[in-house]
Amino acid sequence: MNAPAIKTKKQVNKSQEKETVSKNSLSKEDSVSKPIKKKPHADVPINTYKPKAPFLGTVTENYTALKEGAIGKVQHITFDLSDSDPFLNYVEGQSIGIIPAGEDNKGKPHKPRLYSIASTRHGDNFAGNTVSLCVRQLQYEKDGETINGVCSTYLCNLSKGDKVKISGPVGKEMLLPEEEDSNIIMFATGTGIAPMRAYLRKMFEPMEREKNNWNFKGKAWLFMGAPKTANLLYNDDFEHYKKQFPENLIYTKAISREQNNSKGGRMYIQDRVLEHSEEIFNMIENPKTHIYLCGLKGMEPGIDEAMTTAAAAKGLNWSELRPQLRKAGRWHAETY
Ligand code: FAD
Ligand code: A2P
Repeated sequence: MNAPAIKTKKQVNKSQEKETVSKNSLSKEDSVSKPIKKKPHADVPINTYKPKAPFLGTVTENYTALKEGAIGKVQHITFDLSDSDPFLNYVEGQSIGIIPAGEDNKGKPHKPRLYSIASTRHGDNFAGNTVSLCVRQLQYEKDGETINGVCSTYLCNLSKGDKVKISGPVGKEMLLPEEEDSNIIMFATGTGIAPMRAYLRKMFEPMEREKNNWNFKGKAWLFMGAPKTANLLYNDDFEHYKKQFPENLIYTKAISREQNNSKGGRMYIQDRVLEHSEEIFNMIENPKTHIYLCGLKGMEPGIDEAMTTAAAAKGLNWSELRPQLRKAGRWHAETY
């Protein structure tokens, strides 16, 4: 069982104190016939700050998450939450809203954009008073002009000390199961790694393990997609966890512009799924296995296709199995 470990800065609602959320399981035998009622996650904090009355967080850090030679701009950004009252508690797997400064082209305040939280509830400094994000600057070409995304550009260019309007937290889709012996399969592309970074810190950072009184004993398998090696986000941390916990963490990379799939095309995580389909489906047959998908919307059909092929090799029908996994609270997807 997990100990409640949410920092109780200022006044914390009793209902916000619970640490993680139980999920129902799906056994091989009952996988079709017995969907078990999901828990409502009533204890998870939601919308402590609404977009119309946001909390003003202060930037404490904003540094590149990329290595030399990477494509684009991706920043790791941390905000101080100490002054929030009520305290802006959150749990791993949630998102926050950011309202960029300025106005839109109609003279109205900008709408909030959602960002997955990349830190655990204890924050990167373990003091429980910060939240971190992993943000890619949106940039594309239109009519020969480079267009910069409003909010992502605003975030990537913030300086230490800047005040930022934050709403949330929101989201119950990507919460971790409570059981220490659960298995966690993760499919991430690009900044979709954000919630996975929080999970992996919770599982493998010694300070996190101590603070949570939660000692992950299952198997975690991260499939990470990036265009180049230099774009692999938090790669050093994950390599370190793998060394420290070789029995508990598998880390599989698909580096699209440096590796080729079996057809000679770009290597995507769904190609890695096909390579490891037998092991993945052996894990899925265990009711303690959860699957998390986060990142590019475009990856979902590819993952589905790979899972369909992989399932068929085991005599299973993915189009039937996936809704069952979802109903059982074991399939978690957040793509954008
Ligand atoms: P905007 O200024 O709002 O521009 C976006 C618009 O530009 C699009 O709606 C589209 O109309 C247009 N556009 C985009 N690309 C093109 C193109 N190639 N050609 C033509 N038009 C185009 N982002 C992260 O970086 N990190 C995260 O952790 C993260 N988590 C998220 C979690 C959730 C649950 C959701 C829903 C989204 C998440 N996002 C994340 C995405 C984020 O919310 C924003 O959508 C993103 O940062 C772009 O916002 P923006 O204000 O910079 O772009
Ligand atoms: P590529 O851009 O080479 O086609 P980032 O956000 O840092 O660009 O990383 C996203 C990663 O996801 C890239 O490696 C990108 O490959 C890859 N990708 C792009 N489209 C898909 C897709 N449909 N399915 C899976 N991965 C994808």
